[in-house]
Amino acid sequence: MGVTAVDLPRMKAGGERITMVTAYDYPTGRLADAAGVDAVLVGDTLGMVVLGHATTIPVTMEAMLHHTAAVTRAVERALVVADMPFLSYQVTVEEAMRNAARLIQQGGAGAVKIEGGSALAPTVARIVGAGIPVMGHVGLTPQSVHQLGGFRLQAKTSASAQRLIEDARALEDAGAFAVVLELVPAPLAQRVTELLSIPTIGIGAGSGCDGQIQVLHDLIGLVGEPETAHLPRHARRYAEIGVAIRQALASYVADVRAGRFPEAANAFEGPPEVRRFVDQDRARGQVVKLPA
Ligand code: KIV
Repeated sequence: MGVTAVDLPRMKAGGERITMVTAYDYPTGRLADAAGVDAVLVGDTLGMVVLGHATTIPVTMEAMLHHTAAVTRAVERALVVADMPFLSYQVTVEEAMRNAARLIQQGGAGAVKIEGGSALAPTVARIVGAGIPVMGHVGLTPQSVHQLGGFRLQAKTSASAQRLIEDARALEDAGAFAVVLELVPAPLAQRVTELLSIPTIGIGAGSGCDGQIQVLHDLIGLVGEPETAHLPRHARRYAEIGVAIRQALASYVADVRAGRFPEAANAFEGPPEVRRFVDQDRARGQVVKLPA
């Protein structure tokens, strides 16, 4: 068995920083695992970075199952965490339980992630009680983007900072094994990290968290319009894969148009019999049908 939900709190206790990145399909899962990340999140950001939606809200359970299964087929070592999409856990605790179980049973994930704080604690407790590890997620919770008024920094007052601490504690008390802190002031994220015994995984929450998560496509520039794509302040580009893909495809287009591809080495000569048939057929002459 590779990394499990039990290992992340152990890593915190041992002072080891936790690395986490999103992946959405077989190749990205395989690459993330080979790079040595501790955990891979099949994030509902797939709605934005893979499917082209403006928010994560349109992502369905079926889409999450489809992508989670592809990632779990690829990953051998890292813990795979599957995001519970919008409306899969908010309606009733029973429905949340059933959907979490599907992500584990059909998707093959090792844990699920739920957005929300104290209000979701009973749901987290029920899922954890059924033996399914749950990662919490507070601060900017993108599924609530309409209520939050945009993808922006959260907990900007002492009252909301206090609420965030209470939310994180409620998740820990409910049995969550880790909690994502998204777009939270760094000093507050550090304070939450000090207060919890479970690890905090930050995104836009500074270096004081126990671990970091980033959206893969931000890190590697896998975007359709590389020159104009918005890179969030909290991310860093480690590669320009979008530029590399476009250049590669432009070369392919040019080679096909110029007759440089395919070459003989890219084709199949076939058995001599086929060559003889073609030569004889040509010698017999053929009627070439021209377009009308
Ligand atoms: O869906 C996602 O990718 C996430 C991360 C940004 C934490 O929730």
